[in-house]
Amino acid sequence: MDSAANTRAIDSLLNYETVKYFNNEEYEARRYDRQMQDWEDAATRSQVSLSWLNLGQQVIIALGVTAMMWRAANGVVDGSMTIGDLVLVNAFLIQLYMPLNFLGVVYREIRQALADIERMFDLLAVNREIADAPNATALAAGAVEIRFCEVDFSYESNRQILQRIDFSIPAGRTLAIVGESGSGKSTLARLLYRFYDVSGGRILLNGIDLRDLTQASLRAAIGIVPQDTVLFNDTIYYNIQYGKPEANREQVIAAAAAAQLSGFIDLLPDGYETRVGERGLKLSGGEKQRVAIARALLKNPPVLIFDEATSALDSKTEKAIETSLDNAARGRTTLVIAHRLSTIMNADEILVMDAGRIVERGSHTTLLDAAGLYAQMWALQQLEESGDAAASLVTEG
Ligand SMILES: Nc1ncnc2c1ncn2[C@@H]1O[C@H](COP(=O)(O)OP(=O)(O)OP(=O)(O)O)[C@@H](O)[C@H]1O
Ligand SMILES: [Mg+2]
Repeated sequence: MDSAANTRAIDSLLNYETVKYFNNEEYEARRYDRQMQDWEDAATRSQVSLSWLNLGQQVIIALGVTAMMWRAANGVVDGSMTIGDLVLVNAFLIQLYMPLNFLGVVYREIRQALADIERMFDLLAVNREIADAPNATALAAGAVEIRFCEVDFSYESNRQILQRIDFSIPAGRTLAIVGESGSGKSTLARLLYRFYDVSGGRILLNGIDLRDLTQASLRAAIGIVPQDTVLFNDTIYYNIQYGKPEANREQVIAAAAAAQLSGFIDLLPDGYETRVGERGLKLSGGEKQRVAIARALLKNPPVLIFDEATSALDSKTEKAIETSLDNAARGRTTLVIAHRLSTIMNADEILVMDAGRIVERGSHTTLLDAAGLYAQMWALQQLEESGDAAASLVTEG
């Protein structure tokens, strides 16, 4: 009950913005109160049972002591025992029942300890979902070629997420993935990081199955800018340096510059030492995203994954950052997931995903010529952009 109440409190405190958006302080307080009420009931029950235990113990001890003293007194009366014997019996009994008194408290502590131990063993019994194979090898340094061979995947057995995904990214090339929300794009990145194992098919890196590589070497080779960035409650400097803790100050500053962050940091009174707040709350969405880009660039891995890396940026900053991203991608195997198609026009190959399948593939121009889903998406986005441009002309005019 105690830990359940704590979990609830932490959850509502972490999400305090959501609580406030919906004006639900009362609701959260009531929920916590209910949990505390349960805890209170349990604590009272435990205290009551302990009191009964103590009471019973005291009664038994008192009866026993009385009976023994009475017998000893009788012995003195009929002359079979001396006064000294009576004092002896009394002294023995005192020595015996003092420690007996503690038994109740000790019993309760043992029960509490057993409950804790049980939880600890439950935790130890949880198997790691992903473990290194016994003969796992390290991924060799240098360029990496990625192949997905007929990959099937589901998070839960009753819902297939990816179906027969088959593609390869030659070393140093860029592959882009587009598709509607929920089609499984981020899942591909998670599989590549081996947060989950595939349900069918294989993922090969330089011809070696992912499952035969050590996770440490695999993850060292991949840099990712995730879809939602979460930062540590520390300084901007710390958060950028996190990509490569041994990096020196020049390298961190260069990475920040490449991610178009230096202008923003120069404006801050505390500069790089500005604290970002819990989960990066004090930074805007675009600033957080650029911190994530900076630390991926700092890590400097042979494989880069950008999962909607610029989705929170305005078009001008996006244009500015595109050059650094293109530079970063040069010579690296890169997987770009994007919604805005104009950012991935230059990719070597584009995959269009729909409901966990690849429905179209090819370069930008071949996909446009095919006049399929991609061409539709492209036309729609062009329309929106020209609409925006027209709207801005109208407001400016
Ligand atoms: N941990 C998980 N457990 C169960 N299902 C999950 C889990 N993560 C994602 N899913 C489901 O898998 C599907 C694919 O998710 P994924 O994050 O790959 O989508 P996406 O293509 O990246 O979408 P978006 O463009 O919105 O980011 C979704 O329908 C989602 O509900
Ligand atoms: Mg996604």
